[in-house]
Amino acid sequence: MNRRAFLRTIGGTGVIFAASAVGLSQCNQMPSDAIAPWSGPSNQVSDREWVLSHALLAPNPHNMQAWIADLTEDGAITLFADGTRLLPDTDPFSRQILIGQGTFLELLSMAATERGLDAKITMFPEGEPATDELDVSKKPVAHVKLSPNSAFAKDDLFPFITSRRSNKQGYLQEALRPEHHLALSKLPLLKGQQMGFAVGEEKVSPYRTIAREAITLEMNIPRTLAESIERTRIGADEISKHRDGIDLHGPMFYWLKKFGAMTKEKAITPGTMAHQGGMDYALGWAKETHNMGWLISETNSRSAQVEAGRSYVRINLLATKLGVSIHPVSQILQEYPEMQTLQENFNQRIGVQDSQRVQMFYRIGYQKQVPPSPRRRVADIIRT
Ligand SMILES: Cc1cc2nc3c(=O)[nH]c(=O)nc-3n(C[C@H](O)[C@H](O)[C@H](O)COP(=O)(O)O)c2cc1C
Repeated sequence: MNRRAFLRTIGGTGVIFAASAVGLSQCNQMPSDAIAPWSGPSNQVSDREWVLSHALLAPNPHNMQAWIADLTEDGAITLFADGTRLLPDTDPFSRQILIGQGTFLELLSMAATERGLDAKITMFPEGEPATDELDVSKKPVAHVKLSPNSAFAKDDLFPFITSRRSNKQGYLQEALRPEHHLALSKLPLLKGQQMGFAVGEEKVSPYRTIAREAITLEMNIPRTLAESIERTRIGADEISKHRDGIDLHGPMFYWLKKFGAMTKEKAITPGTMAHQGGMDYALGWAKETHNMGWLISETNSRSAQVEAGRSYVRINLLATKLGVSIHPVSQILQEYPEMQTLQENFNQRIGVQDSQRVQMFYRIGYQKQVPPSPRRRVADIIRT
């Protein structure tokens, strides 16, 4: 992760010097068990476990991994959103949670093809929840029937599933190269979807301002800030225990935590180093980006949200293949009342029409690959 902004804020405290002076630069690294799922499953496991192990690597909001795979029916997977892992304050109608169901389904489908299976996906088999329904976990999001079919051509993005990342570092000052812009723009989308890009300083500048304003707003509302802080795992012990959420690890966080400077209480309290460090870190995203991208769907129906996830993960995978980094900055898209005015201005600038909805807004550019984020065990999402 980008620790530079954090370091700038807390660099004067002596805590960092204490850490390096005692030579503990390796302490509190990412626990290996939390990232073991990125090594991929053994080929010996069952078909369903194999495809679910790939699906679990999908990008998803706050890394809450809000997935339940019900395996009670033979040869099938019924996918539910996990109602205990929603984001009620920043994602009150679970639009993003449903995008995260789409990213999961797309990887599941790609893995099935790779395994010589046909995954027949029926969306919302018991009906779509209304767009203002608060709890989307009651009815299944999708029913997936797996059957043998080696006739399918393999997906050329499948090999990038395990190296895909949301790269939250500051990006190099470089416009998206024309060949990358073109390749991404040509990626086939689902019906009714469009993508757009702001490439280079002049075009990106207004979007950077919008992203900054939205981040600042969200971090100044106690309940929306608290939602993220509550899902932040500080240090190897917490990461190992939860294997989800926003992970902060490494010697800096170890020592800050040890000295009592990095607690959840401090992180939500303006005026503390932890709060300011968090602000600077998030604002760094808006500052250190030189291109932005977005994905629009024709409507904001529940199916459109899931389909946005299916296409977004393909954009993320193609970017990985091209050596391009990508990172969603979703604050401006969120549906709580305080964000409404900023969001209207953003929509006007993008030029969305009537029923259209910007589903994903992301930084895109160049930076070194980052390590993977934690994932739970596949057994943790299975219901039998
Ligand atoms: C719908 C959606 C919204 C997201 N919004 C944000 C965001 O606002 N800020 C952010 O840092 N990451 C965002 N992410 C990225 C997730 O944090 C990331 O996927 C998750 O932490 C897992 O990391 P990984 O993608 O590297 O596997 C979003 C992802 C999805 C699918």
